[in-house]
Amino acid sequence: MRHPSFTIIAHRGASAYAPENTLAAFDKALDLGAADVEFDVHFSADGQVVVIHDDTVDRTTNGSGAVAALTLAQLKSLDAGSWFAAQFSEERIPTLVELLERYKDRLHFHIEVKGRAEHLSEKTIDLVRDHGWLDSVTITSFQKERLEEARAYAPEIPAGWLAREVDESMIEQARRLGLAMICPHAGILDGELVDRLHQKGFIVRVWGVGDEDVMRRVVEAGADGMTVDFPDKLASFIDSR
Ligand code: G3P
Ligand code: CA
Repeated sequence: MRHPSFTIIAHRGASAYAPENTLAAFDKALDLGAADVEFDVHFSADGQVVVIHDDTVDRTTNGSGAVAALTLAQLKSLDAGSWFAAQFSEERIPTLVELLERYKDRLHFHIEVKGRAEHLSEKTIDLVRDHGWLDSVTITSFQKERLEEARAYAPEIPAGWLAREVDESMIEQARRLGLAMICPHAGILDGELVDRLHQKGFIVRVWGVGDEDVMRRVVEAGADGMTVDFPDKLASFIDSR
């Protein structure tokens, strides 16, 4: 599922089919032929880099509380799959290290630095580097500070700024930071924005693609890639064009 002209990124794994950000979701992405997956990282209370989307465990586990207030052992005790379907009750919150060990040489990681703690980008990059995986990683974030950290610490890793709005000031800041990508929400994307970002030298990767109509519109607008919960449907659409 690697297309030369469009990067198909399984969002939180193949999260339409398995609980987001679990091994089941990443395994499913691989089964579907995905070459790229996106996931979110936070610090646990004891400084481990864990893979979960929200600031709290409430929505995607049977526990409650802030991720940053729970130790890795506490996070690992939670069921991270039953909220999605009973058959996934054995799923646990993975660590970044587990993903690096399980999928090395098989997937490109688009790591979204979600937690707001200082040095989360640096710790994430240390783990990636320790596993010899720098060539197959992209760092993204909504937070400029986390991107600044990543750019200063590992300028060789491509980085992208996730944005709900894109204006000239943001484009200029992204240029100064040396970002390879700007990642607009699908809702603001049109051909004019794609052209403007391409002219400034940015790769355009889109997020917030909720259904197949939006998926088609993003491809037709000329974007370079997108995160999507159903990577198989995106691959079929691109193959059919
Ligand atoms: O691909 C970027 C996308 O993951 C950002 O939104 O809320 O899914 O983390 P969110
Ligand atoms: Ca994300």
